[in-house]
Amino acid sequence: MRRRAIIQMIVIGVLAGIVTGGVAYFVPWLPDAASVQAGLIDEVYWFVAIVCVVIFALVAGVALYAGWKFRVADDDMDDGSPIHGHTGLEIWWTAIPTALVVAMAVFSGINLSRAEALPSDARVVEVTAQQFAWSFQYPGVEKTSGDLVLEVDVPVKIVLHANDVIHSFWVPEFRMKQDAVPGIETTTAITPTKVGEYDVICTELCGLGHSVMRAKAIVLSSEDYAAWEKEAGGGGGQAGGTGTGGEADGKAVFDSAGCGGCHTLSAAGSTAEVGPDLDTVLAGADEPFVRESIIDPNAEIAEGYQPNVMPGDYEERLTDEDLDALVQFLLDSTGSS
Ligand code: CUA
Repeated sequence: MRRRAIIQMIVIGVLAGIVTGGVAYFVPWLPDAASVQAGLIDEVYWFVAIVCVVIFALVAGVALYAGWKFRVADDDMDDGSPIHGHTGLEIWWTAIPTALVVAMAVFSGINLSRAEALPSDARVVEVTAQQFAWSFQYPGVEKTSGDLVLEVDVPVKIVLHANDVIHSFWVPEFRMKQDAVPGIETTTAITPTKVGEYDVICTELCGLGHSVMRAKAIVLSSEDYAAWEKEAGGGGGQAGGTGTGGEADGKAVFDSAGCGGCHTLSAAGSTAEVGPDLDTVLAGADEPFVRESIIDPNAEIAEGYQPNVMPGDYEERLTDEDLDALVQFLLDSTGSS
């Protein structure tokens, strides 16, 4: 009788394990893996998933069997019979989960340190986060870029800074996630393995524009990266811009400075609603007003908006040519003079 019960529980448990294992394995839960680090993080994910499936199968086997065999009759109003603890069982169900949790912690710790290990001469990208835009600075490249441009198979040390509040850097396909915290420097590592375009996402609630605080991570082949670096560093067009040579491109500045993260502007295709709609507030505006609105945003606050939301340091962050180009672009695209 007892043997039969155990076999029945095992059958239920195995069925539950097959169903949940199938759900874990066949449903594509994870985004594409596009970095060396992603493989290591996914190993941890699968280790934890397997442990969870086994525990679930065990619990489901016992629980479903108990529900099936020990169901009370409809007219049974008795309390259950009193039971006393089982010391042996308690030792096991404390020891096994403890061992599993320790194993997960050790496995995670080892893989995280492997993921963060970088050669000492790794390329460094300085990342600055602020409400609500990312900017990226490369060694030997003069201008900041609004996109994270990486070379395939080249390890990069990501150094994070925050200008205002805590943000968090994440590219799902690269897996690595790290906070950007005002006043300190945090780092993470990425070795991209697939050429392509991915989203840089802020994953720390940082204010009104948090959900639109995104940028592109662009992974280029070695030849394309060299070409991009040359273009960006040669004092030419805006990094990742349209490559118009020596002339700054206002639309590219709009994109790279993160303006579209907060403002609607039909000429730039942006639809964000954190700050005033530029199509409306700049319609018919003159050049001094547009310039002042960029470099001293608190000077005049549009009705219904708060001061101190827009960063006030664009005069330092943009070169004179970029600022001029941005002002001109805004005047042109809102039909002002
Ligand atoms: Cu920055 Cu959320």
